[in-house]
Amino acid sequence: MATFRQHFILLLLLCIITFTQSAPLFLGKYAEKPNKLSSYEYKTQYFTQQLDHFSFQDSGKFSQRYLINIDNWVGAQRKGPIFMYCGNEGDIEWFASNSGFIWEIAPRFGAMLLFPEHRYYGESMPYGSKEEAYRNSSTLSYLTAEQAIADYAVLLRELKQNLSAEGCPVVLFGGSYGGMLAAWMRLKYPHLTVGALASSAPILQFEDIVPPETFYNIVSNDFRRESMNCFNTIKESWGELQSMGENADGLNQLTKTFHLCGALKTSQDLSDWLSSAYSYLAMVDYPYPSDFLMPLPGHPIREVCKGIDSAADGTSVLDRIFYGVSVYYNYTGAVDCFKLDDDPHGMSGWQWQACTEMVMPMSSNPEKSMFPIFSFNKTYEEERCMRSYGVKPRFRWITTEFGGHDFKTTWKNSGSNIIFSNGLLDPWSGGSVLQNVSESLIALVTEEGAHHLDLRASTPNDPDWLVQQRTSEIRLIKSWIDDYNQGKGSAFSI
Ligand SMILES: *[C@@H]1O[C@H](CO)[C@@H](O)[C@H](O)[C@H]1NC(C)=O
Ligand SMILES: *[C@@H]1O[C@H](CO)[C@@H](O)[C@H](O)[C@H]1NC(C)=O
Ligand SMILES: *[C@@H]1O[C@H](CO)[C@@H](O)[C@H](O)[C@H]1NC(C)=O
Ligand SMILES: *[C@@H]1O[C@H](CO)[C@@H](O)[C@H](O)[C@H]1NC(C)=O
Ligand SMILES: *[C@@H]1O[C@H](CO)[C@@H](O)[C@H](O)[C@H]1NC(C)=O
Repeated sequence: MATFRQHFILLLLLCIITFTQSAPLFLGKYAEKPNKLSSYEYKTQYFTQQLDHFSFQDSGKFSQRYLINIDNWVGAQRKGPIFMYCGNEGDIEWFASNSGFIWEIAPRFGAMLLFPEHRYYGESMPYGSKEEAYRNSSTLSYLTAEQAIADYAVLLRELKQNLSAEGCPVVLFGGSYGGMLAAWMRLKYPHLTVGALASSAPILQFEDIVPPETFYNIVSNDFRRESMNCFNTIKESWGELQSMGENADGLNQLTKTFHLCGALKTSQDLSDWLSSAYSYLAMVDYPYPSDFLMPLPGHPIREVCKGIDSAADGTSVLDRIFYGVSVYYNYTGAVDCFKLDDDPHGMSGWQWQACTEMVMPMSSNPEKSMFPIFSFNKTYEEERCMRSYGVKPRFRWITTEFGGHDFKTTWKNSGSNIIFSNGLLDPWSGGSVLQNVSESLIALVTEEGAHHLDLRASTPNDPDWLVQQRTSEIRLIKSWIDDYNQGKGSAFSI
């Protein structure tokens, strides 16, 4: 007969194994379909790209969508800048409408705006449809960051040629994975760009560059700073969920407590759903009401913790958790019941990327994390990715291709004109560049900021530190363009 302890360890292992699957997937899950598009106006165009930029065998072509706005562009002759947002893992219209900063600064720079979509997302599907593109590891094998950046480079060159705009400086923008692409593109294609604003870009979240606990420790800290009791209640809840999940009665009760639409099959599903909410909350812990992933109040973690802490004495841990998480999943009060399986088979492109090159090791440790405890396990990841896609992750590829180890000396010598902007509440900030590397590799860090808040449109509620951060970004971007124009000027005068 298994002792309680053995039983517990087994459960814990199960938990470790399944929990690793719920590691936050950036915003891919949310970025598939734009739900609320803003009033920004652009033309939608399509461009034929090579499916494989790195082979001369004909692997075919695909049609890449890009959005373009030239309303403010002062034209090729006056060297009007081109601001290009590096599309990330989702529908480009969603990113364009959530990047108000770029729209707002375009007039003062006389800039053209360009939003190319990342291959295999939105409408930019190889093989004619998502179903075909996502069929298997052969069809998916052209979904890589290197290919995506090459798409942007090829598009830029041809567009410039068509517009006789070869002399126009290109500034790159991007948030999250898009920020990583912007920084990497600047490092790889310095001849095509004058600089990059990489907002909330965890380009160091690879291999052993930062400790694997970083992400979940930051999420946990965000809750702890609002309330120790809230942190402890969440930490306590996993064990209760698990023991309730051991029998049918308990599962029934959980289904009722959490107002689920369908009967709960395992408590793990519920744990994953809660864990995702906490991670996303940390990403969007903005200082004013927002509607990025979900409609949320300002300081949403504070509100979640109020839900947890302010329930009447004697309220159970799990009821408290329900009150808390309702702030995230049901802030509008319009949700009848909760569906846990929004992304049931996980055939999202980001999961493929995470199983091939974008391996970001993550662990949750007992001292600082409020999440269930687990350790990043390479063997487990290899087996999981083999099962899901028939591929093995290449843990060391990104650092081989783009660097990252010892970046302070390597990029200092080989890179220039990149802003790494981060808000420390954002759990991805721990995997980004938080110190100035050189005169022109600049870290702009805000203590109260969250996931690429600086790229969003300004609001009357913007705190001073955010206004200042954006002002610094504008000043640096202007200096890159000025330097470029001066360089051109002196070249002409020789
Ligand atoms: C993937 O699907 C295509 C088209 O059906 C097929 O030709 C190819 O052999 C498949 N590749 C793998 C690895 O299964
Ligand atoms: C450039 O011009 C050619 C010829 O008109 C056109 O086919 C192509 O789509 C244009 N490319 C871009 C990126 O605008
Ligand atoms: C969402 O909130 C409304 C208003 O408070 C409530 O009536 C409804 O039951 C909630 N939905 C869920 C799934 O809890
Ligand atoms: C890692 O995962 C493998 C495969 O699932 C498993 O056999 C092994 O025990 C795990 N290692 C640790 C340290 O948990
Ligand atoms: C980096 O340098 C800029 C000035 O160029 C400064 O505003 C900023 O605070 C510095 N960043 C850090 C993290 O010290």
